[in-house]
Amino acid sequence: MTARLTLTPTSKVLILTGAGVSAESGVPTFRGTNGLWEERRVEEVASPQGFDADAKLVWRFYSLRRDGASKVNPNPGHEAIATLEARLGDRFLLATQNVDGLHTRAGSKRMICIHGELFKTRCERCNEPFVDTKTYFDAVPRCETCDGRLRPHIVWFGEMLNPTHLTQIDGFIESAGPELVFLAIGTSGQVYPAAGFVDAARRVGGQCWLVDVDPTPEYARRFDHVVRGKSGEVLPALFAP
Ligand code: APR
Repeated sequence: MTARLTLTPTSKVLILTGAGVSAESGVPTFRGTNGLWEERRVEEVASPQGFDADAKLVWRFYSLRRDGASKVNPNPGHEAIATLEARLGDRFLLATQNVDGLHTRAGSKRMICIHGELFKTRCERCNEPFVDTKTYFDAVPRCETCDGRLRPHIVWFGEMLNPTHLTQIDGFIESAGPELVFLAIGTSGQVYPAAGFVDAARRVGGQCWLVDVDPTPEYARRFDHVVRGKSGEVLPALFAP
């Protein structure tokens, strides 16, 4: 039987997406590559310590990811999420762990990029992020204003999420209460605080759904409904009006 979400005129929908949503676009998932890049653990590259140890290597990693992400396109999963938002307006919020920009390209607007944005850069000193599609393979870029080191606008391992983002998500959950429908899609639920959103949703009495091709058992048992399948195939039917 095809799973289908039943929403009322007062339902509020919070969606958390992870790397699985972009898998059908051709973006490799984190754990699908065993968390390795060129034999190195990604944590060694995607961390403040990694940047201090070898900033040029870190920029090569993110330059390759920029190249990769600019060559792929949103898939029907991203599109179904954007279509649902268009129907629900302010009763909808998307929190994505993905940095690839594919949700934006599919038309999502009420969206929080909790782990940062691949196509943004910021100065370590000025801290103001700006849109940047360039790649840096030869040298570490410097800030035009203060000559500080430029870094990718990514929340690295060991770094805090933007507290404003968490307040917005908490506020959405609290204001929805039992009218909340929470969906986690294509995420293994191993990285906090995102992995804890389901617990917050349960506390307010929300209905919780997990959509994943191969759900992580410890994560899946915290949901009311688990739909096993590829997001690009499942979501258009799940969100059908
Ligand atoms: N449709 C649905 N789910 C899928 C698909 C698909 N087509 N392909 C893979 N998946 C699922 C996998 O089964 C897995 O549960 O997507 C999940 C991807 O898990 P991870 O690779 O761990 O990615 P994610 O949960 O987003 O990682 C969280 O960790 O790497 C850090 O900061 C990074 O944001 C990332 C965070």
